[in-house]
Amino acid sequence: MELLDAMKARRSIRKFKSDPIPESLITQLIESARLAPSGSNIQPTRFVVIKSDEARRQLGQATPLPFVSQAPVVIACCVSTESFGGLGTRMRELMEAGAFTDTPLEKMDTESYAKRNPMDQATAEAYLRLNAAIAIDHITLRAIDLGLGTCWVMMFDQEKVKQILGLGENYNVVALLPVGYPDQNPTSRPRIELSEILLKEV
Ligand SMILES: Cc1cc2nc3c(=O)[nH]c(=O)nc-3n(C[C@H](O)[C@H](O)[C@H](O)COP(=O)(O)O)c2cc1C
Repeated sequence: MELLDAMKARRSIRKFKSDPIPESLITQLIESARLAPSGSNIQPTRFVVIKSDEARRQLGQATPLPFVSQAPVVIACCVSTESFGGLGTRMRELMEAGAFTDTPLEKMDTESYAKRNPMDQATAEAYLRLNAAIAIDHITLRAIDLGLGTCWVMMFDQEKVKQILGLGENYNVVALLPVGYPDQNPTSRPRIELSEILLKEV
């Protein structure tokens, strides 16, 4: 499917058929997230695939939205707060892959640049979520191609979800993504005009 067609066809789906999703499709969704870009290639996004009736039942108590746990699969999209620790390795990998060739980055000591320009905690958290959002949206678009529906969900109790999934303090859950075959066919949702989002050309 053309990317533009997937973008046009995607909707937030809030009603799913109970039909199970083949394992290979879930793998393809996670693979699409793996391909996403991330700042300094730190790749902080992690996923928990929630399939069992019991785990979904428990999850249903951590969100006010019943359609989430009614989906046959829910992907908990998380970030590892320890990802910054791998920055040096990731940068070396990029260097070896030639990503910086013929740019000022080739000679820059990016690790000490990061140390000289540290992010405060709020900025670091936002940065991780920004990276996760890109990976998550890769999933929502790939899902269209596979005939699946998804919905970004951020209405959940962070601590409850982490407890249900047995996630330690080094993980934050960014979004829950219910996944299933759509049992609704919504028309496109309203968007503001192009002229409103394009502020100016300078
Ligand atoms: C960051 C983000 C958070 C969202 N959180 C929720 C949510 O908690 N519950 C929900 O039902 N939909 C949620 N949505 C879906 C939006 O309501 C939806 O994308 C928007 O209304 C446009 O509809 P569309 O996705 O069908 O185009 C979220 C979407 C995004 C991108």
